[in-house]
Amino acid sequence: MLKGKTIVLGITGGIAAYKAAEIASKLTQAGARVEVVMTDAATKFITSLTLRNITGRPVVTDMFEPASEWSVEHIALSEAADAVLVAPATANTIAKFATGIADNMLTSVVLATKAPVIIACAMNDNMYSNPVTQENIEKLKDRGFKIIEPAYGRLASGKMGKGRLAELEVIIAKVDEVLGGRGDFKSKRIVVTAGGTQEPLDPVRHISNRSSGKMGYAMAEAARDRGADVTLIAAPTSLPDPAGMTVVHVRTAVQMKQAVDKAVKKADALIMAAAVADYQPKTAAKGKIKKESKDSLTLELVRTPDILGEVKGNFVKVGFAAESENTVANAKAKLAKKNLDLIVANDITDPQSGFDVDTNKVTLLDRSGKVEALPLMSKRQVAEQILDRVGKLVGKVD
Ligand code: PMT
Repeated sequence: MLKGKTIVLGITGGIAAYKAAEIASKLTQAGARVEVVMTDAATKFITSLTLRNITGRPVVTDMFEPASEWSVEHIALSEAADAVLVAPATANTIAKFATGIADNMLTSVVLATKAPVIIACAMNDNMYSNPVTQENIEKLKDRGFKIIEPAYGRLASGKMGKGRLAELEVIIAKVDEVLGGRGDFKSKRIVVTAGGTQEPLDPVRHISNRSSGKMGYAMAEAARDRGADVTLIAAPTSLPDPAGMTVVHVRTAVQMKQAVDKAVKKADALIMAAAVADYQPKTAAKGKIKKESKDSLTLELVRTPDILGEVKGNFVKVGFAAESENTVANAKAKLAKKNLDLIVANDITDPQSGFDVDTNKVTLLDRSGKVEALPLMSKRQVAEQILDRVGKLVGKVD
């Protein structure tokens, strides 16, 4: 999975910085293109020349350095990354990531990137156990950053403690896993629905909703990147088909039900992010409905099938619930009524959350009564959080 991937390797200023050379070497040997970004402090521990020779790529040490291929191009570098690995990551840089500070090339790349970010912590054990550092790490975890904890052992101070950079194999395996190579969903079959169904009134008009498909697509892509065999059942959206999965296009709730019932036959989990119409016109006119001589038009609507509520089979069932009030109570009722394992209650009152935006604010509720409110995060990060829970439910714990 590393072959052909672009990995931005961020190195910060700790004694373990010398180990970054080995990491860069291993990633390069595995076929990855490694773009090294060093903080100023990192250059005091290891030279950029070493990294340049190992990777065969220019090394960025200064955001404004004219000789760098990527100078003032932190956005380009952040976009080129399939993954960002920061190893070692000091308490100082972790604090910057947690607060959104972008005062050097590495912090700017991390703030700008949409790629997964893996952070291998290494520092003095007291700095690591300090509540401030722990809080920062928790914040990053909540935002979807992958944290590699430091190992226990002899530290630079000479004493024993938890602060050493994790073993090379652990770090490489994590990068591989994040890129889907050793994903925790390997050999799992996941069915995801996305988008808003369209219920035709006549050949030119339909009833629909504001779903863009972004949440469901992010869900499907995250599952794919974690190794799952994904079937995406998509109601109409303007999004391109994601690579590396089976995409089934449907229009109506009835069509979505047929596709879901077929796809779940071998599924380990069904995740329904789609906004399915609850009602459809009783009949769709064959020809375009004419407005002449009609001052008003009455539509007769009938219920659509409850796809999630009616689906049969032994697999994990995850629903979404877009709510504007009594979010948790309403979602809880849907979880019970539809017999779900997990429901993602979506707060749609915040303009940054819900329909047609890139971010989402959700509360996760499970069968056991556990309620977890997550902060506003990207839809991809929400998807990762959901998968972390689904992974445990399908018996494959990360
Ligand atoms: O697509 P985006 O623009 O990114 O927006 C994402 C989203 C807001 C659409 C998504 O996050 C979301 O909340 N989807 C669920 C929308 C919803 O309101 O669902 P619901 O409360 O009507 O239904 C509850 C669950 O039952 C959902 O999982 C739904 O897919 C499912 N359902 C609903 C009706 C129906 N007839 N059959 C169903 O299976």
